Amino acid sequence: MSLHTATLIHRDDGTPWSPDYDDVYHSADGGLAQARAVFLAGNGLPQRWAGRRLFCLLETGFGIGINFLASWQAWREDPARCGRLHYFSVEKHPLTAADLAACHARLPEVAALAAQLQAQWPQALPGWHRLSFDEGRVLLTLLFADVAQALPEIDARFDAFYLDGFAPARNPQMWNDGIYRQCSRLAAPGATLATYTTAPMVREGLAQADFVCERLPGYGRKRHRLAGEFRPPHWHRPAAMAASVPPDTPVLVVGAGMAGAAIAETLALRGHPVTVLDAAAGPAGGASGLPAALFHPHLSPDDAILSRLVRKGLLSALGNWDALERRGHVLTGSRGGLAWPAADAAEEHAMRQAVERLRFPDGYMAFLPRNALSENCGLPLRFGGCWFAGCGWLDPRSLVGAQLATAGIDTRFGVRVERLDCTNGIWQAFDAAGRLLAAAPLAVLANSHDSERLVPGLCSLRHIRGQLSRIPAAMPSLRCAIAGAATMVNLGNSLVTGSTFDEDDEQSSPRASDRARNLAGLRALWPESPAPDDGDFGQDFVGFRAATNDHLPLIGALPDLAVLRAQGLQWRGRPVSELPRQPGLYGAFACGSRGLVWASLAAEIIACRIGGEPPPLENDLAAAVDPARFVLRKLRQGRLP
Ligand SMILES: Cc1cc2nc3c(=O)[nH]c(=O)nc-3n(C[C@H](O)[C@H](O)[C@H](O)COP(=O)(O)OP(=O)(O)OC[C@H]3O[C@@H](n4cnc5c(N)ncnc54)[C@H](O)[C@@H]3O)c2cc1C
Ligand SMILES: C[S@@+](CC[C@H](N)C(=O)[O-])C[C@H]1O[C@@H](n2cnc3c(N)ncnc32)[C@H](O)[C@@H]1O
Repeated sequence: MSLHTATLIHRDDGTPWSPDYDDVYHSADGGLAQARAVFLAGNGLPQRWAGRRLFCLLETGFGIGINFLASWQAWREDPARCGRLHYFSVEKHPLTAADLAACHARLPEVAALAAQLQAQWPQALPGWHRLSFDEGRVLLTLLFADVAQALPEIDARFDAFYLDGFAPARNPQMWNDGIYRQCSRLAAPGATLATYTTAPMVREGLAQADFVCERLPGYGRKRHRLAGEFRPPHWHRPAAMAASVPPDTPVLVVGAGMAGAAIAETLALRGHPVTVLDAAAGPAGGASGLPAALFHPHLSPDDAILSRLVRKGLLSALGNWDALERRGHVLTGSRGGLAWPAADAAEEHAMRQAVERLRFPDGYMAFLPRNALSENCGLPLRFGGCWFAGCGWLDPRSLVGAQLATAGIDTRFGVRVERLDCTNGIWQAFDAAGRLLAAAPLAVLANSHDSERLVPGLCSLRHIRGQLSRIPAAMPSLRCAIAGAATMVNLGNSLVTGSTFDEDDEQSSPRASDRARNLAGLRALWPESPAPDDGDFGQDFVGFRAATNDHLPLIGALPDLAVLRAQGLQWRGRPVSELPRQPGLYGAFACGSRGLVWASLAAEIIACRIGGEPPPLENDLAAAVDPARFVLRKLRQGRLP
């Protein structure tokens, strides 16, 4: 599960060398020049991306990122560059940040770009990491995984391939028929390929995978290099990505909570005019109106799918919030660390074992014994537990406000969408009086529980009331947010604690008994905390979480239930990703107790789907949140009405 970072040594001539593979990271005659001569020229770049809206590139072996930096530099300098460059790169042994910086120090020609790459360089955590440069027009997706596992998890089409593993004889895992077959599966019409090696096994394997390759004069002391073109005998495979629409296609978003605001921001930044409709009087008028929401990883000893998804969502969210702050927004909260103390000795033991097994970087999650965790919190704890550096709490209202302030978003509050219809490819939202509120070719439902009413039959959502208490007690010693049996957030002159979790409880006003429950939980953590004070309960926050039975949200294109009902049998055995969808209709709801973690990821998934761009996450993770999963289950059980 954990990754082994690369061991890298600089040879006497300065060329970085891997002792594990006994090979150099790039030609001793210069990395950048090799990148341009072998990988860019071999793929006909920059000419081939000229004038295109989107160009997608896949590399095997990110290494130092020299090929990426050379490509990004060429893209920047090209007046005819494509609108967006997606650069996917697989890497099993990421460099440490220090090694990356040391290697980049030898590349003064691309120093400014290298500094930006270093600033976003992810921790060595398994999975996909999407980095955004030049206002999102260059997106680098780093797939930290073994190439054999990573490639089958991609659902995209690539216009160019850089094959850049270590030498085939030393690194056969990067050069075999399975890899070439995956390249063939992932190739867009007219795709090209380039590599520095001309080993016969590589040429033969690529030919078998329908890449017609040519030996060309090599770079530096290499006599030859290889350039190839994808020429399948028949073009029979369906396009992996949905047909894209122009980036200026208007979008209608229902809901201005964490989900709707993140989606509106992401789509507006991609050039879509966005109209957001919300029944509440202002932004974050639903569950997202809580004063402090926590964010942190999910821990499971086997890094279960929920843990991987939460990691993906968390990293997307942190990237999104960083970008908002770079644009000058102030988000209220703290990312100074979050503690999850164990409730008892058994849980403490399980936590320690799970963290030790996963061996993730300490900057992501660590187990701390009682004294160290207490020290971090500024509160004497009964047990040790998890320390999540870089996590903490956020006032979602500041986040939603910042996202909705993005140019290109028109917000309308106090308007409830009673009905959503599609006529001639245009989604129309009507109010209770039958008046048209807004219309657009694309619509996104981000209205929590009410999505289920607007598009019935997708799933049945759980309705979970939560009350969060705010107590006017200063606790200057508390240094971080605390989660677990009780939560605690320091707002300076008050504390936020809670929250209750009651299913099918519809009372929207706060209750004294719930405040008492919250304060009792707080006392278990902090015995000196104020006694329950019924008089203050009116100031508590009450919200309703929408959740599914599998605890995961619904994110993506909504299935076409009419087609599925009519042709049910035909779809029963198919993977969820292949189920028919309602053209132009998307959803992001049922965020449960993790709105902060899901919202930015949902926005990126939906924006990529709309734009026909490579998705930001692995197939198995996308399937786990696919809004069609419950329908497929019903179909298989013969229960789809
Ligand atoms: C007490 C409590 C504590 C929580 N703690 C945390 C936490 O620590 N961390 C965390 O990440 N999450 C937490 N959550 C969960 C989090 O609040 C939710 O997951 C998140 O707010 C969901 O966001 P949303 O945008 O999907 O829904 P909402 O914020 O509920 O937004 C939906 C919006 O849709 C609008 N709407 C609904 N129907 C219509 C319609 N027909 N027409 C127009 N508008 C409509 C509503 O007015 C609302 O503004 C907590 C929730 C509660 C209740
Ligand atoms: C020649 S270097 C790549 C250089 C890189 N393209 C650059 O521009 O700096 C080869 C890379 O392949 C990676 N690698 C080796 N085996 C791998 C595997 N099985 N899966 C994924 N990456 C692998 C190595 O860790 C190394 O970083």
